[in-house]
Amino acid sequence: MKKTAQLCIDGKTYDIPVEIGTEGEMALDISKLRQLTGLVTIDPGFVNTASCRSSISYIDGEKAILRYRGIPIEQLVEHSTFVETAYLLINNALPTANELADFSQKLTHYSLIHEDMLEFFRKYPSRTHPMGVLSSMVNALGAFYPEMQDTTKTEALNITVARLISKIRTLAAVSYNISVGHKVIYPCHDLSYCANFLYMMFDSPVKTYEIDDDIVKALNVYWIIHADHGQNCSTTTVRVIGSSGVNLYAAVSAGISALWGPLHGGANQAVIEMLQEIYDSGGDVDPFIARAKDKNDPFLLMGFGHRVYKTYDPRAPIMERIAEMALQKMNRHDPLLDIARKLRDVARKDPYFIDHHLYPNVDFFSGIFLRAIGIPLNMFTVMFAIGRLPGWISQWKESLDTPNRKIDRPRQIYMGLLKRDYIPIDKRD
Ligand code: ACO
Repeated sequence: MKKTAQLCIDGKTYDIPVEIGTEGEMALDISKLRQLTGLVTIDPGFVNTASCRSSISYIDGEKAILRYRGIPIEQLVEHSTFVETAYLLINNALPTANELADFSQKLTHYSLIHEDMLEFFRKYPSRTHPMGVLSSMVNALGAFYPEMQDTTKTEALNITVARLISKIRTLAAVSYNISVGHKVIYPCHDLSYCANFLYMMFDSPVKTYEIDDDIVKALNVYWIIHADHGQNCSTTTVRVIGSSGVNLYAAVSAGISALWGPLHGGANQAVIEMLQEIYDSGGDVDPFIARAKDKNDPFLLMGFGHRVYKTYDPRAPIMERIAEMALQKMNRHDPLLDIARKLRDVARKDPYFIDHHLYPNVDFFSGIFLRAIGIPLNMFTVMFAIGRLPGWISQWKESLDTPNRKIDRPRQIYMGLLKRDYIPIDKRD
């Protein structure tokens, strides 16, 4: 039976349909509200707003559940690869062996970037943040492959998708090598997706990079747990921009810019900077906990809190586990991991963090893992972006395929001055 809610305005009652999601989530469907009542809603930060219907990822923030296309993240981490998970997200089905082979072959085939693009990288100032470079380069791909932007043709779309997923890791590795003045390492067709990325990042004419299967597996896990996460800031950006009909490269480029911010994907870099600051100041976490609780201090405990998770973020313990494994594998001890655990343990018992439902999020331990495998600090958010790309693509595709899709165009409540007359410059005080 259909549910409705009643809205009473100036004595008149309106029936508002209640929509129920497949997992029982309930929402007021206000799509006819303005037409019926003349009113709009206001919801800064979209805290109470579902901007779309989606079948891609399911999150229960109270029960710490994350599933991609119905499959729990823990199972994907255990049994899948990043490439297979990307296929699942984009195509809404686990691939058959032939489909996976075909998709993997495409990712291998499209890994080279146009030689002219190398000039773009070389002309960037060496201190430019790699996220700015990545965003520009992904947009630039649209100029090199304009013929593939007709998304009504399935094969053209499949090629564009494969091209983007394949090339993003080449763009990232090239950008790193050029920024540090190293030789560009070309992709190798014999390597899997993750191994190829590590090879392009770290192989050198003077020292061969030894590929370690456990590190490759851990990188698969890292990218799987970053692959999609509902309507977060960057995904919403991709969908909003995509709603104007712009090409996939431009939409993803905007998503990368949104991810860069320290309140979103940029938190993985900010966490390490914070842990380093604590370490440099002697390792006592208490003053930092006190600052995070002080409302007169803008300081936040980076890597803590989440708009959706109000218990722990299920990705955080997976991240902690692979960080620890990578450190053991490298035979290294990272004092920042000890500080991170100390912060986590203190916050776990502190009433402020308990009352505010603040737990470590995916970014809290991810920097420790990335440091352990040799990724430089300013590349951390680029690593996140590579992982999130399949999610952005599937969300963009889902939005495009929605029947009667409208351009995203919110309203506003005007709070400015009432009508007044223009004053010529010689009459102003
Ligand atoms: N440290 C201290 N206090 C915090 C923190 C934190 N990290 N996060 C939230 N709070 C407090 C706020 O001050 C606020 O307190 P109040 O109600 O007493 O005023 C309360 O908790 C609610 O916080 P909001 O900012 O309203 O929560 P929101 O859902 O809007 O923001 C966010 C979530 C942006 C993740 C926030 O927790 C934050 O800034 N965390 C630190 C940055 C971070 O780790 N970002 C990565 C998120 S995961 C991702 O994007 C991949």
